[in-house]
Amino acid sequence: MTTPQKTPINLMRGWPHPTLLPTPLLTTAAAHTLSSPSTSTPALSYGPDAGHPPARAAIASWLSETYSPAAGPVSADRICITGGASQNLGNLLASYTDAEHTLAVWVVAPAYFLAFGIFEDGGFGGKMRAVGEDGEGVDVGALERGMEGVERDAGAAGRGRGGEGRARKVYRHVVYCVPTFANPSSRTMSLRRRRELVRVARRFDALVVADDVYDFLRWSVDGGGEGGGEGCLPRLVDVDREIDGGAEREGADGFGNAVSNGSFSKIAGPGVRCGWVEGTSRFAYGVSQTGTTRSGGAPSQLTSVFLTHLLETKQLQNHIRHTLQPTYARRYHILQEAIRHHLIPLGFSLPQPTRSVAGGFFVWLILPEGMSSGDLAEVCSEEEGVIVAQGAMFEVPGDSSVKFDGNVRLCFTWEDEDRLAEGVVRIKKAAKKLLAGGKRSGDYVMVEKRDAYGVDEFK
Ligand SMILES: Cc1ncc(COP(=O)(O)O)c(C=O)c1O
Repeated sequence: MTTPQKTPINLMRGWPHPTLLPTPLLTTAAAHTLSSPSTSTPALSYGPDAGHPPARAAIASWLSETYSPAAGPVSADRICITGGASQNLGNLLASYTDAEHTLAVWVVAPAYFLAFGIFEDGGFGGKMRAVGEDGEGVDVGALERGMEGVERDAGAAGRGRGGEGRARKVYRHVVYCVPTFANPSSRTMSLRRRRELVRVARRFDALVVADDVYDFLRWSVDGGGEGGGEGCLPRLVDVDREIDGGAEREGADGFGNAVSNGSFSKIAGPGVRCGWVEGTSRFAYGVSQTGTTRSGGAPSQLTSVFLTHLLETKQLQNHIRHTLQPTYARRYHILQEAIRHHLIPLGFSLPQPTRSVAGGFFVWLILPEGMSSGDLAEVCSEEEGVIVAQGAMFEVPGDSSVKFDGNVRLCFTWEDEDRLAEGVVRIKKAAKKLLAGGKRSGDYVMVEKRDAYGVDEFK
């Protein structure tokens, strides 16, 4: 007798669905760019270290429209083109930290787990510390106490490695967070908390790296797709510009204490491998002086020129507003509705949103009391053919103070839309088995699912 098989449903992978990749737009942008030497020559040459000037200008103007920063429009000299948020996180560590003098990387947890490898590569394998969240975001009190403790232990060693006369400086601490629609918790840090965080960062000479990669994917919790709900909260980099005299206030070194790590991955396709970083002009210049950039010119030069065309002609903004926001809103509501119907009655709950706006790629589920996310993920995968991301994946390596065995992350952007609710029904079946005392039928086997290119499921 053959064992019945279920078609796998993947609620783990954090990618855009292939139908949401803007292939026609990129085709037009590529044709436009390559049709004239005035654009094709810079696009195919080594770029200036900080990136193609029209790309920096187009991004600056788009960010100004999106966030309307209180301190005024974003100028192009605050922007440096990157190869995406991951690549740039590596560059930030290379340019602005020193594994000896930088005392710790404070990671807001649950955390985007693929950042851990970047911190390890940067020499911070044993120096990552978890900082938990409450309903408003990062627990700033715990962060402050942690920094005080680490400073006390370190004494005066390594203090004062400032940036006098140099293109870059070495910060004493790094804080890593995703302040808006976080991966994985989908939480948004309150404005009050953002201000507290910037003040703490200034006090301890910390660089707050904010992966602002989901801000554009936002919609109203009450339905309605396009850009619904409240406006964008100021980013940490905006807060740093604005409060208590700003990042470039008298007496400060001018590098600032917050940096926005932006990416086109979630809005124009991860394969474009292009992003931007925004900080003070001094900070942005410092990023452009990273050794690999000085040698090779701005990363992702060709795709940054394609994206410039899409921003200048507003095609990317329209794609976000008229395609991505309504589609992801619909998917989000399908998943939420299925969770409310099938899982809440079993004792599951959802931590957010507390605001009227939702967004991003993920839903963070709180499991019923006593249920382990490892067990749930295993029964889901082995018996129900549905893949979910278990909470432990998002725990900071080497720091067991903040644990997530009671959570799983679900992604609503990758799987086919008409299979999202079925995925939740299967999670319900798995949960019921666990609630009934771990009874496992073993009736089904999981169909091996690796995509055609051998990319694993975990990204
Ligand atoms: C928080 C966060 N940062 C960075 C990335 C990766 O960004 P990029 O593709 O620009 O390297 C992701 C992708 O999942 C993410 O969720």
